[in-house]
Amino acid sequence: MQQTAYLNGQYLSIEEAVISTQDRGFLFGDGVYEVIPVFNKKLFEFNAHFTRLQNSLQAISVVNPLSKDEWQDILQNLIDQHPWDNQFLYLQVTRGVQMVRNHMPDECLVPTIYVYTNPLHSLDENTITNGIKVITLEDIRWLRCDIKAITLLPNVMLKLAAKQQGADDAILLSQDNKVLEGTASNVFMVKDNVIFTPPTSNNILPGITRLVVERIAQNNNIELKEIALNLADLEQADEIWLTSSTKNVLAVCQLNRKQVGTGNPGKLWQKINALFIETIKEIAL
Ligand code: PDD
Repeated sequence: MQQTAYLNGQYLSIEEAVISTQDRGFLFGDGVYEVIPVFNKKLFEFNAHFTRLQNSLQAISVVNPLSKDEWQDILQNLIDQHPWDNQFLYLQVTRGVQMVRNHMPDECLVPTIYVYTNPLHSLDENTITNGIKVITLEDIRWLRCDIKAITLLPNVMLKLAAKQQGADDAILLSQDNKVLEGTASNVFMVKDNVIFTPPTSNNILPGITRLVVERIAQNNNIELKEIALNLADLEQADEIWLTSSTKNVLAVCQLNRKQVGTGNPGKLWQKINALFIETIKEIAL
């Protein structure tokens, strides 16, 4: 099927959407991105994603080239041009094209804006009902993981390392054994009916799914605490979950080859996952 992308003011077929080799995104990884889920053709948590985009751009000293309404129009336009009810939009803003390679950005560069959409398939039933296998790895990323930077080489290497060791994903630990996040997700754990997640910091991305889970817990009087966690806490956990815009809330059944809790997605996961799906359905009405 013909897929349409948005590139610098134009809607093009995805094959026609090409950028300059001198784009700083290509040469330096100098840019930021967002992944926004769409349910029943409606943007999920657009305001939160826009705010995070704004924060990422501000952190790298790029002025947002579009207003909030302009972004929303482009995103909705792309959604409407594709047949899938559920989608995930990828948007990327780089600092722009600079002909002479220099770490120092020229002034007055024009940011490159690229957006495209994909069908959002729910994970297979087996993965959802049985959970995934995760190992812990030392975080090898930088000290500004709160910026949603396009520079994802360490995340790719860590994901590959997890796979090479027979796991589905990795939970990243700081050098002093603090639990940070997944390679492309946030981490939650449950102990004695209380949900825990590490507080936001420069070492983790403030996930929008994480935010929604926190809101759901609060609205349903389920105790949730943001506190620093270490590997020993994870090893004692009754449940562990990963959250992201493309995975929703996913249970972890194995940590470092040892069963987590009963070895199956736990009671609080069942509850939060059901409430999460309800939330998605509400916005999709
Ligand atoms: N990544 N942490 C990292 C490092 C991530 O890359 C992501 C999401 C998250 C979860 O954020 P959110 O709930 O807003 O999706 C946490 C996206 C899905 C990606 O890179 O494809």
